[in-house]
Amino acid sequence: MVKAKVFVFEKLFDGLPKEDDLKIVEEELPPIKNGEFLVEAIYLSVDPYMRAYTACHKIGETNVGSQVGKNTAYFGFLEICTPQAGETVVVTGAAGAVGSHVGQIAKIKGCKVIGVTGSDEKGKWLVEELGFDHFINYKTADLDKALDELAPEKIDCYFDNVGGEISSIILRHMNNFGRISVCGSISGYNNKSEKATTIQRPMISLNLTMEGFIVSRWANRWNEGIQQNLKWIKEGKLKYHETVTEGFENMLKAFIELFTGGNVGKAIVKV
Ligand SMILES: NC(=O)c1ccc[n+]([C@@H]2O[C@H](COP(=O)([O-])OP(=O)(O)OC[C@H]3O[C@@H](n4cnc5c(N)ncnc54)[C@H](OP(=O)(O)O)[C@@H]3O)[C@@H](O)[C@H]2O)c1
Repeated sequence: MVKAKVFVFEKLFDGLPKEDDLKIVEEELPPIKNGEFLVEAIYLSVDPYMRAYTACHKIGETNVGSQVGKNTAYFGFLEICTPQAGETVVVTGAAGAVGSHVGQIAKIKGCKVIGVTGSDEKGKWLVEELGFDHFINYKTADLDKALDELAPEKIDCYFDNVGGEISSIILRHMNNFGRISVCGSISGYNNKSEKATTIQRPMISLNLTMEGFIVSRWANRWNEGIQQNLKWIKEGKLKYHETVTEGFENMLKAFIELFTGGNVGKAIVKV
């Protein structure tokens, strides 16, 4: 008989997740049936969607999670933003798993790239290590003014990982016929009373196109994304960084840190 450990809900998340919201429980796995196989977890992924999906969970249920990452940035950026060389791209959540990847793809495509992130340290990493042109620390800078200074030519593509007020400000700095790929809205995941911000005016007056996506839309093309990313990594054009937390029991801590900016690049847990 094989035993596994899972996190079950003691309390439902309310605002920022807390370490005592979940507890670790050992469970016996059912015997393997014909055609099934058992996979041992070595690395686990912690992702913001695990917060967004918990609205439909009940106390005592097991929290969701995944063991294998998928390449969200490649399709979500190229297919929806259709970036052209010489265009200006803004990425929010820029030092995270998806954002740091999107910005580098934009550089490969010959764009000017501005990353919006929550610390100067992360911003310097984006510019000095990953080749972004500029960064804006949304916690300390006046985003509106910074965009006036750094993108006087206006923004052609916006890859949105955070939503909320940050995105509303960015929308007002878009070029006519700009494209916006809506990947996530992490600024609202812990906030039940998030107010809807009016986006219609810039959408209309600037002829903008905004499209949301779930990465599984391109499931039939995953191999293409993996192969292209591997090629760029081997050519030294694409760098990746992982924030590794040791131990299954520290998974919830690693998850909470996604909402306090504790990770650089992809957050994973080594079991
Ligand atoms: N559509 C899809 O199929 C799909 C797939 C995967 C992920 N996503 C979404 O993509 C986004 C990024 O995911 P990821 O896995 O790459 O996570 P991540 O960016 O690696 O981690 C989250 C980061 O978000 C930033 N953040 C947290 N709270 C914030 C706030 N209130 N305002 C602004 N920034 C905040 C933090 O960085 P700072 O230090 O910079 O604040 C944090 O490090 C998430 O919204 C996620 O839900 C969507």
